[in-house]
Amino acid sequence: MDSVTVFAPATVANLGPGFDVLGVAVEGMGDVVTARRLDGRAGVVVLEQVEGDGGRLPRDPTTNTAGIAARATLDLLGVEEAGVALALHKGLPLNSGLGSSGASAAAACWAVNALFGAPLSRTELLPAALEAEARVSGWHADNVAPALLGGFVLIHSYAPLDVIRLPVPEDLIFVLALPDCELPTQQARRVLPKTISLRDHVANSGHLAALVAGICTGNARLLGRAVQDQIVEPARASLIPGFARVKQAAIEAGALGCSISGAGPTLFAVTDDEATAQRVAEAMRAAFAEAGLTSHTHIGRVDREGARQIPPPSREETPD
Ligand code: HSE
Repeated sequence: MDSVTVFAPATVANLGPGFDVLGVAVEGMGDVVTARRLDGRAGVVVLEQVEGDGGRLPRDPTTNTAGIAARATLDLLGVEEAGVALALHKGLPLNSGLGSSGASAAAACWAVNALFGAPLSRTELLPAALEAEARVSGWHADNVAPALLGGFVLIHSYAPLDVIRLPVPEDLIFVLALPDCELPTQQARRVLPKTISLRDHVANSGHLAALVAGICTGNARLLGRAVQDQIVEPARASLIPGFARVKQAAIEAGALGCSISGAGPTLFAVTDDEATAQRVAEAMRAAFAEAGLTSHTHIGRVDREGARQIPPPSREETPD
């Protein structure tokens, strides 16, 4: 195989109480990476094309997340006879809280692995994707893991890296409200408390345990009720204009739970009903507008598959 094209989905990390340890992939939005084999150019990674980013991402493969992930994957594979050329198509907005860098990293890992016969499993590739995410965004796997593996993924431990795929409740629907502003993850991490009270730890432990119980038993109502966070959400709320108003609007419109997606500024809400999802999306968009922000919304079910091979872009879609 000379060339492989891979899609990796958007992700919602944290899901309220699961800071850095829980994330989920959501259908309908994502990044695409095409990897082409460069015979006779051992270990070389070339970033031939980046589009959909408004020219903002680095073109240097040693600082672009897809390039770093491809390099780390070649090392994991022990490929000595060839290099890879990459083309990255950004479908996800930058600094939006939807795991944009994680999706690029996951797509690059899976594409390079597939190019050389797919000897490694998704879990085995995760360290390569995490290495790329850590270099550009921070040492957290709650975006890259679901982008690569699909579904809900719990990071049980970082040292050693141990991730657990959770079952996906049948009827669960995510509503994403993306305001037209950006919040770099590193900025959103700077406002986090360095120490927390025992009381907050106990409260968040209970919420996270209940959230995982809701996911595992397919109980969307319990899941939604457990989307509560006394530690990270309060610290970040002021970075998102209209946060409290948008969250309240989602709940009043019937959402089972609502919080910040990843580091924000996107907010996510959960429901188990299509009509409610439409109402929640409209309520969240209107509430952002009241706070002076335009936004757009996306309704999607859980992406169970994660990174996967897709047909190559047609020639018409590929710019010269
Ligand atoms: N868990 C990370 C954070 C995700 O909240 O900072 C970043 O998208």
